[in-house]
Amino acid sequence: MSRHFAIVPAAGSGSRMGAERPKQYLMLAGKPLLWHALATLCAVTRIEQVCVVLSPEDEWWAAFDWILPGDKLRVLRVGGATRAESVTNALQRLEGEVRADDWMLVHDAARACLDVAQVDALIDTLAEDEIGGLLAQPVADTLKRANVDVRVAATISREAMWQAQTPQMFRHGLLLRALTMAQGVTDEAGAVEALGLAPRLVAADATNFKVTYPQDLALAEIILRARGKT
Ligand code: CTP
Ligand code: MG
Repeated sequence: MSRHFAIVPAAGSGSRMGAERPKQYLMLAGKPLLWHALATLCAVTRIEQVCVVLSPEDEWWAAFDWILPGDKLRVLRVGGATRAESVTNALQRLEGEVRADDWMLVHDAARACLDVAQVDALIDTLAEDEIGGLLAQPVADTLKRANVDVRVAATISREAMWQAQTPQMFRHGLLLRALTMAQGVTDEAGAVEALGLAPRLVAADATNFKVTYPQDLALAEIILRARGKT
């Protein structure tokens, strides 16, 4: 039986947030933003270990309490210059401890509103899958491509278009091979696709959005408070 591990890249600087600290350490519903995704992943019964990937220069982590369910948390200070590099470094660190067919669930620290049911659905759907896959949402809006003057250059059909989210779930051996070979990918699925494989899309919903801009914090807070998580 393959085991399940979570990897949470949290070594970014949050430049689009424009705050005085990396966005993963901004306060959200009474806790650092990063705490929420870690708490959800630690609460997933089938996940054995939750590895958070920090920058080696991170000076914020130690300033907070990280009381989380299940004693599953592990800190890896191996963050790199890009998200892909942070994930690759973590996978390399786990080599030898995990088996090639163990599942890795890679989740953005910035998706603070992930809930346990979404993760369970991903694990259930992919249990027998040859390749792996990701949470994603079918696009509901009409899509426009902009020109340099910020005017509409084209309308793009939304048919069969999905927005990629995380967790993205692939086996350790395949994912490390894919990320080592791929250049310039922004997510794990992109690296696996570059090998000619087709990851499975597992429908999630808009609450699993990535906190990116200042106005996103208020929306995340509303979602968490509505769930009584605070
Ligand atoms: N991340 C990482 N290592 C990097 C860059 C990003 O671990 N070198 C992580 C972030 O901490 C975040 C996730 O990858 O949890 C998704 O990235 P994003 O939302 O783009 O966060 P930032 O890169 O920090 O934000 P920005 O792009 O606005 O600077
Ligand atoms: Mg980024």
